[in-house]
Amino acid sequence: MALGQFVDERYFERFSETTATRTLELDPAEFRQLYNREAFAFHHHLCDEPLLQFEELFKLCKRLPENSIKFRRGKVPVDINFDTSLAQNRDGLTLDSVIEHFDENESYLAIYNPETDPEYRDLIERILSEISRNILDVDSPITWYSTYIFMSTAQSVTPYHMDREMNFLFQIQGEKYAKLWSRFDERVMTSAERDTLLTDEGKKRPAYRQALERLSKNFELRPGIGLHHPFIAPHLISTKSDRSVTLAITYRTELSDVWSDAHNFNYYLRKAGLTPGPVGVDRKIDQRKATLMRCARKCLKPIRDLIK
Ligand SMILES: [Fe+2]
Repeated sequence: MALGQFVDERYFERFSETTATRTLELDPAEFRQLYNREAFAFHHHLCDEPLLQFEELFKLCKRLPENSIKFRRGKVPVDINFDTSLAQNRDGLTLDSVIEHFDENESYLAIYNPETDPEYRDLIERILSEISRNILDVDSPITWYSTYIFMSTAQSVTPYHMDREMNFLFQIQGEKYAKLWSRFDERVMTSAERDTLLTDEGKKRPAYRQALERLSKNFELRPGIGLHHPFIAPHLISTKSDRSVTLAITYRTELSDVWSDAHNFNYYLRKAGLTPGPVGVDRKIDQRKATLMRCARKCLKPIRDLIK
């Protein structure tokens, strides 16, 4: 299932300042300093949104296609493989049993792309429009987005992993602990691991190690608190309260697309035995690498088509 939606620069123009949500409370100085460099918490006003309450979300689960709803037992080790954690811990649960006995089953349920539902699309896109407006001075236009709603029970764990995009995470109900790590810290992920992460999608996410514990930035999420995840920042999240609802708005921008392609370019340089400099340090060099990667892809496409 293809996740998310590609958008162009003008996509959010249809939302004026009055129709976008006004839910983010960002400290301008902190935002400017930390955005896409370090994780930071912020306040939001989404907790009373009727569409984000348990009963409405259960109705949404029944409306959406089956492959948009993922579920498993909530309690899993922090170091299990993120990509197989859903399949490996489904444990005989069905969607009906999860909805009817959510707490007794110690469930974890993820709704993928709630924006594909007509009732949710407007809310999600209004939030995205607000994010898009806020990041414009420090980033670039949004090129893709994908959103998720996570519903969980006490001690549920989202194992250690990193995503290939940025995220504004909104805690709506209940409490969670979140640990995030810097994407620039070589002790957390080496430059080579970062390059590989952006190349072999889903195959090579660096694994959790106990030694990471002392390197994380820790947050306690409660209703009304949000958390910004910088690009590919590793994270690990656990549910503290009985029930929790969290909305994740993940997105890529023109700049993060440059980083992705520069990582991709580095990956091939490494395969050729070279040791390229890290991505995210010099914007001009990243841009040149990304341009070369895009040219190479374009040139190689007819050859790939021939050998299909
Ligand atoms: Fe994540």
